[in-house]
Amino acid sequence: MKMFALVAVLLGVAAPAFAGDAAEGEEVFNKRCKTCHAVIDASGNAIVKGGKTGPNLFGVIGRQIGTGDGFKYGPGLVAAGADGSVWDEASVAAYVVDPSKWVADKAGAGNKSKMAFKLKEGGEDVAAFLAAHN
Ligand code: HEC
Repeated sequence: MKMFALVAVLLGVAAPAFAGDAAEGEEVFNKRCKTCHAVIDASGNAIVKGGKTGPNLFGVIGRQIGTGDGFKYGPGLVAAGADGSVWDEASVAAYVVDPSKWVADKAGAGNKSKMAFKLKEGGEDVAAFLAAHN
């Protein structure tokens, strides 16, 4: 990633505002996320076989918040997406640091997330991994 940023600078193009490392993110996902989340494409191929406590995260980048098929979201996350907002890499990285705080900041105090897990670091990388599976 550093190399890419350097090349981008040398070429005079703006480095992407958000730039995680998808390979690192895959490791983070397998260690920290797959207990609760799978990544399964529309044809049913499992990129990551995972738990069902949380929604399938295939295609989550660009998807409206709280609208994955076949999962019963909490009201807080649904409220966070009610204005039509979609996940991007930056918002996923911010969400995983403290899901309930992120939901309260977005949808208003009193709203929280059903995701009972916080990721201290590596959110950008895991977001880049998810962006590679859309
Ligand atoms: C302990 C189980 C658990 C773990 C571990 C977990 N999650 Fe979640 N996640 C959930 C649940 C449950 C929800 C649904 C939240 C809600 O409805 O409020 C969720 C929701 C999400 C959403 C919103 C999806 C959507 O369709 O709107 C994202 C993005 C997400 N998780 C990413 C991650 C990532 C990345 C990791 C690993 C760093 C992770 N989660 C780890 C349980 C978990």
